[in-house]
Amino acid sequence: MITTESATPKPLHREPPQRIASSDDAAVRLRAWREGDREPFADLNADPEVMRYFPATLSRAESDAMVDRIVDHHERYGYGLWALDVDGRFAGFVGLSTATFEAPFTPAVEIGWRLASWAWGRGAASTSARRVLDAAHTEFGIDEVLSFTSVLNAPSIAVMQRIGMTREPAGNFDHPRVPVESALREHVLYRWSA
Ligand SMILES: CC(C)(COP(=O)(O)OP(=O)(O)OC[C@H]1O[C@@H](n2cnc3c(N)ncnc32)[C@H](O)[C@@H]1OP(=O)(O)O)[C@@H](O)C(=O)NCCC(=O)NCCS
Repeated sequence: MITTESATPKPLHREPPQRIASSDDAAVRLRAWREGDREPFADLNADPEVMRYFPATLSRAESDAMVDRIVDHHERYGYGLWALDVDGRFAGFVGLSTATFEAPFTPAVEIGWRLASWAWGRGAASTSARRVLDAAHTEFGIDEVLSFTSVLNAPSIAVMQRIGMTREPAGNFDHPRVPVESALREHVLYRWSA
């Protein structure tokens, strides 16, 4: 008997709800991670331009371990960092994760994004991040979402502002996972409430 294979590669966890997956911009789509995302994800994690505001680029093994943690998070919580397609091509992630490092505001749900540089400058991060915030409360019962990044990461801070998050004026903190001597250690804190 001849069997036809599905054209869509197998997802590694449950697909996001439609209100997250669908976008005003049809070229921008959040979806479950697939095995084939590992290679382009490792490429962007190895790119010094993408990783400019992180302490270091990631090796292939470190990048794959991050995919494993992302998939585990989806299985445990039912939400997480979703893979982002731009024009049908894997471009990185946008989504939710649980911040567990030691800080006055943790544990907390964080919204985050990391895109390959070819996908910057067209609203792909903020368009999909708005979808994620919109669904956080209604789909997952999350009433508060935080975001934080190095005070130097102007492109990421601009996304937080574009999607309507509010800066905590006294919220700056030293990220415990960034080396003490690093200029990237001081972070801003933004908040969104349902
Ligand atoms: C942070 C990051 C996701 C921002 O990407 P981005 O493309 O600048 O963000 P947006 O999706 O909001 O797009 C905004 C840009 O698209 C333009 N744009 C075009 N169409 C747009 C639209 N429909 N809606 C919004 N912006 C649009 C905006 O003018 C803006 O361009 P500008 O920066 O030249 O002014 C990206 O720089 C990145 O992945 N960096 C590396 C990883 C990182 O630092 N992550 C955060 C760590 S906490």
